[in-house]
Order: sequence, then C-alpha cells, then structure tokens
Amino acid sequence: MESITNVKEYEVIAKEKLPKMIYDYYASGAEDQWTLKENRDAFSRILFRPRILIDVSKIDTSTTVLGFKISMPIMVAPTAMQKMAHPQGEYATARAASSAGTIMTLSSWSTSSIEEVASTGPGIRFFQLYVYKDRNIVVQLLKRAERAGFKAVVLTVDTPILGRREADIKNRFILPPHLTLKNFEELDLGKIDKTNDSGLASYVASQVDRSLSWKDVKWLQTVTTLPILVKGVLTAEDARIAVQNGVAGIIVSNHGARQLDYSPATIMALEEVVKAAQGRVPVFLDGGVRRGTDVFKALALGASGIFIGRPVVFSLAVDGEGGVRKVLQMLHDEFELTMALSGCRSIQEITRNHIVAPWDAPHVVPRL
Ligand code: FNR
Ligand code: LAC
Repeated sequence: MESITNVKEYEVIAKEKLPKMIYDYYASGAEDQWTLKENRDAFSRILFRPRILIDVSKIDTSTTVLGFKISMPIMVAPTAMQKMAHPQGEYATARAASSAGTIMTLSSWSTSSIEEVASTGPGIRFFQLYVYKDRNIVVQLLKRAERAGFKAVVLTVDTPILGRREADIKNRFILPPHLTLKNFEELDLGKIDKTNDSGLASYVASQVDRSLSWKDVKWLQTVTTLPILVKGVLTAEDARIAVQNGVAGIIVSNHGARQLDYSPATIMALEEVVKAAQGRVPVFLDGGVRRGTDVFKALALGASGIFIGRPVVFSLAVDGEGGVRKVLQMLHDEFELTMALSGCRSIQEITRNHIVAPWDAPHVVPRL
C-alpha cells in the first residue's frame, strides 16, 4: 500500500474490500448523519495564523498523558469488533500503537480479550468500559484490566441506548458467527445474534445499564484503582460536574456521530469544555480527526490530545498492523509538518493565537 498518501484513502479501499454489513457498521453515523459530516466540516472552518522565521530545525511532538510519556498527542480510540476488519484485529492495533509509542484504548466489545491484548507485549493501554446491568460483570472486568496492566478506564457516558444507525437496522447487523465479544465469552454474553433490528442495538438494550448516572461514577472510583476518564462530554455543564466528581480527564466526543445526531462537531464543543474544566483535568477530543492539521487545531483550542476511531478500523481492513502503523505515522508526520509551518517546536508552544475560528473573526472565516 505504498501509494496511500493520506488517512482518508484507506476508507475508500476498505469499502471495496469489506462485506457491506461490516463496512456499513464501521462507517455509519446516526440517523441523517448530519453530525458525521459536521465532525469533518467544522475542522475546515478553522484556519491558521502561522508564525514565521522561527528556528524549526528541531521539532518535538512528544507529550504526557496521565503521567505517561507518549510520542505524540495522537491516540487510538476504542472501536468494537476489530476482527471483522482483519483476522488479527485488536492484536494488530495493539502492536501498531505500541510501536508508534502511543496509547491504545481497548473496547469492552473487542473480539480479542483484555489478556490477549496485554500478551502482545509492552504498551500503554486504556480500557473502555460499558457498564452492564449486572454489576458483578463490571467489577470483574475492571479487575481483569488492572491485572493485565491497563493504565486507565475510559468510561463511555453517551450510550445508555444505542443510536439509530439505519444501515445496521436494514442489514440486521450481527457479529459474524466465527467471532465473539471475547471478554464476555465465558459469561455467555459474547454473541450478537440476528434480531429484527441492529443486533447490536438489541444487545445494548438487553445488557447496558441505562440508569447509569454520576453516583455510579463515584461507585466505579471505589471498585477500581485506575484513573477514570469520561468519554462523551459535550457541554460546559457536564465538564464542571465531571471535575467535581473527581474524574481524571474528559474526552469531548460525540461517539463518532453514532449516537445523538445534530450534536455539534466535537471541535466546536471543545473550547467550552476546556474553559469549564479550568485546567483542573486534561481534556481530550475525538471525532473526525483525519489530518495532522486537525490535531494541531484541537491542541490550539486546548485539547491535551486526540483519539482516532475509524482511521484505525479502515487501515486495519486494508493492511492489518502495517495499515494502522502507517495511519499513525502519516498523522504524526503531518502534525510535525503543521507544527514546523506554524512556528511551533514543542506541544507547549501551540497556542490559541495560532488559529482563528469562525466565532473569533467571521470576516476571516466566512463559511460559518
Ligand atoms: C466506535 N466508538 C466506540 N466508543 C466506545 O466507547 N466503545 C466502543 O466500543 C466503540 N466502538 C466503535 C466502533 C466503531 C466502528 C466506531 C466508528 C466508533 C466511538 C469511538 O471510540 C470514537 O468516539 C469515534 O470513532 C471517533 O470518531 P472518528 O475518529 O471515528 O471520526
Ligand atoms: C458503537 C459501539 C460499540 O459505536 O460503541 O458501535
């Protein structure tokens, strides 16, 4: 795949390669998919204010997340069921993230287990948690993640019910029978079977606890020693409550536009959340990041780092571990280039003044 020159090209090839049911599951957003498009479009309305004649002969893209040093502020978001994309699934993603020197977040609904992913070798890994109605399951999962050396829990807070992804409903999405949600195999909850709906929507309705609330965040803090990041915050109100509840970090996310359609693009919601967090916890972003310039824009608006979802599954489908490695490398290189051309030699040098957003100066950025 030498000819691939940017992240977006992987999606085109993955679409040709994958069975329709699987491609549609990975690609879909909810309902009208307005937010799906907006997650991308909003980045294009933020422009640069590059600084010149700064010695950029040395650029350092490295940063620290929850005290862990990583090579760049670009990390892997949790995406479910990666063996549908490639037989090596999460193993390949874990190896690629580790060789890129960055963090992988493993989905609760992975097709490789927590322990299998840990067995791929060293690497900084976070575990994404879906809270089951049966809380014993949750406690066991957290213990397994701790024992396997995972460093943080990413608590997904935007999915009490699955969003309506119409393609999955039409396709009657199921997990192909040769695969299981590996962490749940022994509990007999590893299958996603055919129903009159998206099989995943039915699974979520039967297993996920839609009563989840802030008191459960408090409870989770008592049953795990790991720091907890809340994933799915889009407002200043919730950012303030998250900080009050002692979370270790906030991920501004609309779940890749797969949950509530007509939620704002995450890059539009980021600054209000950053302001509300008042520097007391780090704020991260995911959603629509496809270019190094997008990473820079998120950092300029106050993010401590970003996560990518679909670029990982699409590159995995096209080229396995090598594909994911290449995606991480291309984003790294583009981000480094953006830093150089903006006159920033380190992450600390990226400031709000390096960009202009439509809400700052509509005359500079006319297409609001
Ligand atoms: C996801 N996402 C997700 N989030 C989560 O908390 N647990 C999960 O298991 C999954 N699974 C999942 C599968 C697929 C196919 C996609 C596309 C997304 C959401 C994910 O973590 C992240 O928020 C978005 O993917 C970010 O947007 P981009 O990078 O895909 O635009
Ligand atoms: C999804 C779930 C698994 O977005 O988070 O498909």
